[in-house]
Amino acid sequence: MRISVIGCGYLGAVHAAAMAELGHEVVGVDVDRAKVEALSQGIAPFYEPGLPQLLERNVAAGRLRFTTHYEEIRGCSVHFIGVGTPQMSQSGAADLRFVDAAVEAMIPHLGFSESGIEVIAGKSTVPVGTAQSIAQRVASTGAFVVWNPEFLREGFAVKDTLEPDRMVYGLPEDPEIAIRAQRLLDEVYEPIIDAGTPRLVMDYATAELVKISANAFLATKISFINAMAQICDAAGADVTALAGAIGLDERIGRRFLRAGIGFGGGCLPKDIRAFQVRAQELGVGDSLAFLREVDRVNDTVRLGVIHTVRELLGADYSSARIAVLGAAFKPDSDDMRNSPSLDLARHFAQEVASVIVMDPEAGPVLRAQGELPFEVAQTIDEALTGADLVLLGTEWAVFRQIDPTHAAALVKRKIIVDGRNALRATSWKAAGWTYRGIGRR
Ligand code: UDX
Repeated sequence: MRISVIGCGYLGAVHAAAMAELGHEVVGVDVDRAKVEALSQGIAPFYEPGLPQLLERNVAAGRLRFTTHYEEIRGCSVHFIGVGTPQMSQSGAADLRFVDAAVEAMIPHLGFSESGIEVIAGKSTVPVGTAQSIAQRVASTGAFVVWNPEFLREGFAVKDTLEPDRMVYGLPEDPEIAIRAQRLLDEVYEPIIDAGTPRLVMDYATAELVKISANAFLATKISFINAMAQICDAAGADVTALAGAIGLDERIGRRFLRAGIGFGGGCLPKDIRAFQVRAQELGVGDSLAFLREVDRVNDTVRLGVIHTVRELLGADYSSARIAVLGAAFKPDSDDMRNSPSLDLARHFAQEVASVIVMDPEAGPVLRAQGELPFEVAQTIDEALTGADLVLLGTEWAVFRQIDPTHAAALVKRKIIVDGRNALRATSWKAAGWTYRGIGRR
């Protein structure tokens, strides 16, 4: 099938490559010339495990190409929209300018599909009501809209796209059109559906809400355990043992109960804010008032770490050198949007003598940015050398594997704050370190 993917960022680039991997003929469109040039050569413009191989293979096979020209979407049967919906700085609402621009740019090129049906499949996370408004805007072209939200996690994006745990189709109201659109998407995703992936069919509004409510729930789960970590700290209890115990209740589940310096990234923080704004517009703002607390708890965990670091360094705080391990918002990604780790590094850089940051993938991105308030180390050893305190901010495997005895020989003072509760506290203590986790005895 001929498919276009509009927007080639974290979501679109992976989706385009994955659709080509399924055997379709795919064109990815993006307004960013540099990104298109890199992708056209099979080079991933960001770090995502498995993506370079997927791009290389499918570009070489001639099934996948990228362009800045919208006219090249002509004749495709399905157009996926995967552009970003960032947060508006003032209101916190979702900024739909990229979605709107994509739809406007597509309109002149719709109505040329040879397959007799043309579908715009929205994947971006949008405020409820967006699909309906796009459907109205494109109605005269004969194209139909389906809302097909994406649940991929960075770091697992390829796997999540090719082996999702569910597919959601938000279909048009007209039953005849709905069934035709559904069949078309089933054809696109045939191998995934054949593998037994649950495919859930619903209306536009529900499909839009599935995505944002999933992210709101995940954020709530993280802030819940971080609130419990604060209680554990105050009561002398251990949040990792607590999470393990409550997580064995199937109704609760152990995943997303890792206490630490909080959630970041391009999705959870902005989505919970946009969701609150949309609920207010719908006159039910009170129903999501708890998300303000979720956001607040996420901020307070960072303040807690600042407090801990001040306490541990005491009078030496302002003259200290702090090594921050991790800058990306999570491991296996170089994405630093709303990164708690980077935020803390920036904070400490204003208050202590020097800060050095090390991140296996985000480090080179930081170095390319230049003009930073901290140093960027090439290696873990370089970061540790001479440090008065080490803060683990992103739980990359290479950090979890650090030998505490080796590290002890490099630092000035053996103090480690494990901002992700990812280290074996007993091993670090045995090597003579003062170890502090989040909500851990
Ligand atoms: C998220 C959703 O998981 C995904 O389904 C959606 O499509 C996009 O948003 P992502 O932003 O890639 O994915 O990251 P995720 O793995 O959800 O982690 C988000 C943040 O929460 C990270 O900063 C992570 O470190 C933090 N986190 C996660 C915790 O602090 N504790 C946990 O237990 C889990």
